Amino acid sequence: MTKQNSKAVAKVMAITSGKGGVGKTFVSSNLAAAIAKRGHRVLVMDADLGLANLDVVLNLYPKLTLHDVFMGKAQLQECIIKTPGGFDVLLAGSGLVEYSRLTSGVRDDFLRIMEALHPLYDVILLDTGAGISDVVLFAVSLASEVLLVATPEPTSLTDAYATIKVLTSQQKRQQIRMIINQTARLGDGRAITVQLQQVLDRFVSKAQGVNIKLVHTGDIPSDPSVKMAIMRRQLLMLNTPGCPAALAISQLALKLDEAVISRSA
Ligand SMILES: Nc1ncnc2c1ncn2[C@@H]1O[C@H](COP(=O)(O)OP(=O)(O)OP(=O)(O)O)[C@@H](O)[C@H]1O
Ligand SMILES: [Mg+2]
Repeated sequence: MTKQNSKAVAKVMAITSGKGGVGKTFVSSNLAAAIAKRGHRVLVMDADLGLANLDVVLNLYPKLTLHDVFMGKAQLQECIIKTPGGFDVLLAGSGLVEYSRLTSGVRDDFLRIMEALHPLYDVILLDTGAGISDVVLFAVSLASEVLLVATPEPTSLTDAYATIKVLTSQQKRQQIRMIINQTARLGDGRAITVQLQQVLDRFVSKAQGVNIKLVHTGDIPSDPSVKMAIMRRQLLMLNTPGCPAALAISQLALKLDEAVISRSA
């Protein structure tokens, strides 16, 4: 933590996707490192109730997790882990999978925890599950910004489209930020975002009477260094900070800093 006694409330961003395995956890953890490097206090939270695999990616062996807080066995502060990337992590713990039915008790617990975390951080990144389950939609509802990760594959894009439709209709979201991961060529992400926007304008905005705006926020190229860092259980931003994917994540952090984090509330 670099800033003390900040009265501002944390900016909460959900990192979500339509299809699984598109890079949410990779983006969450490395984006957190890049935002922390810019001088902000950052927490990444496993909002996939134990399935985000943040512990595996970051090589962490937590003794206590959110599950213990829910069970009344630990204080929230005891479960927060500092990472070599300069940001903190809050893991759900595998026991939390039982809560995927999302009862009102679980919702209340989550809301209480978010409230306690707000004054401690400038940015909270929620690494959510894929798709449109109750848990994912609930986690996304806690965020002021939605970062939707998709790859250029047609299956990922159709699932992204389905997710955008649900977020627009159920949560009345008017803006969703697009991150296109594993791109092959410069400009791919922007072109994909424009195409998706056209389909939304035609079939969703008219039908629902709302204008949903997709904001192309960043592209991350397909890069062999990503797999190498994951195999070594290290952050890409520390392992190979100069590789194309790491540079793209630094750019993304800069953009979010200017557009969201440092913008006065
Ligand atoms: N830019 C990239 N270049 C190359 N490989 C990548 C890139 N981004 C992600 N990958 C690969 O995709 C895999 C899946 O990434 P990750 O675990 O972050 O996805 P996820 O969306 O969190 O999955 P889940 O839906 O299961 O939570 C990584 O282990 C990595 O091998
Ligand atoms: Mg994940």
